[in-house]
Amino acid sequence: MLEIEHLVTGYGGVPVLQDVSLTLAAGEIVGLLGANNAGKTTLINSLSGVYAPMSGRILFEGADVTALTPRERVELGIVQVPEGRLVFPDMSVRENLLLGGINRRARPGRARQMEHVLELFPRMKERLSQDAGTLSGGEQQMLAIGRALMAEARILMLDEPSLGLSPLFVQYIFGIIDKLHAEGLTILLVEQNLNLTLRHAQRCYVLERGRVAIEGPADAIKNDPRTRSAYLGL
Ligand SMILES: Nc1ncnc2c1ncn2[C@@H]1O[C@H](COP(=O)(O)OP(=O)(O)OP(=O)(O)O)[C@@H](O)[C@H]1O
Ligand SMILES: [Mg+2]
Repeated sequence: MLEIEHLVTGYGGVPVLQDVSLTLAAGEIVGLLGANNAGKTTLINSLSGVYAPMSGRILFEGADVTALTPRERVELGIVQVPEGRLVFPDMSVRENLLLGGINRRARPGRARQMEHVLELFPRMKERLSQDAGTLSGGEQQMLAIGRALMAEARILMLDEPSLGLSPLFVQYIFGIIDKLHAEGLTILLVEQNLNLTLRHAQRCYVLERGRVAIEGPADAIKNDPRTRSAYLGL
C-alpha cells in the first residue's frame, strides 16, 4: 500500500533521514522504533508531506505521491496523529472532530464517522462541548486519534501515542490500536517503547541515526542483539 524508496530528508540541506526504504502492506501494523533523534518524526512528516524529501520516492498504491501537498495526501487517506497530539485547544471536542473530517472525501460521511469515533471513545461523547485544551493528556490522545479517523484515514500514522500517558491509558490506547487494526486499518506505529511496540506490531523497523538499522518480524527484532545497541548505543 505504501512504499518508501531511498528517502533522504533533512533540514537546511543537512540530511537527517539517510536512504530509508520501508513498505507497508494493506491491513498491516508496522512499528517504527528508534531512540530520541533517530528521525522518526522526520519520517512521519515526510510521509504526510510537511517536509519535502531531498531525494527518494513515496508511492501510495503504486502512485508517486512524493510531490503532493499535505492536504492532497490527506485526501488520499494518508493521515497522521502528530507527536504531542496537537489538538486545537480553544475549540471543543466536537469542533476538533468535525475539522478532522473536512476534506472532500471524508465530508459526506462525517456523521457516520462521528458515530464510529464516539463509539470507540465513549469518553469523547461525554465531553463533546468541552474545550480540547482542558482534556487530560490521555483524553487528548483519544481526540487526536478520533480526529484522524474523521479524515477517513486509510493509513493511520501514530507518532508516539504512548508519550506521557499513565500505564493504564497506554494500555487503553493500544487496545484501540488493536481494534482499528482488526477493522482493517493500515497502521504505522512510531514508538520509542520497544516492548509495547513489539507486542502490537507485526513487523518493525528500527531507525538509528536516520538509517534503518534492523527490520523484520517483531519476534526477530526482539531477539536481535542489535536492537539493544540501536537504543543504548552499546
Ligand atoms: N524542523 C527541524 N529543523 C531542524 N532540525 C530538525 C527539525 N526537526 C527535527 N530536526 C532534527 O532532526 C533529527 C531527528 O529528529 P526527529 O524529531 O525526527 O527525531 P525523533 O526520532 O522523532 O525523536 P523523538 O523520539 O525525540 O521524537 C534531530 O537531530 C532533530 O534535531
Ligand atoms: Mg519524534
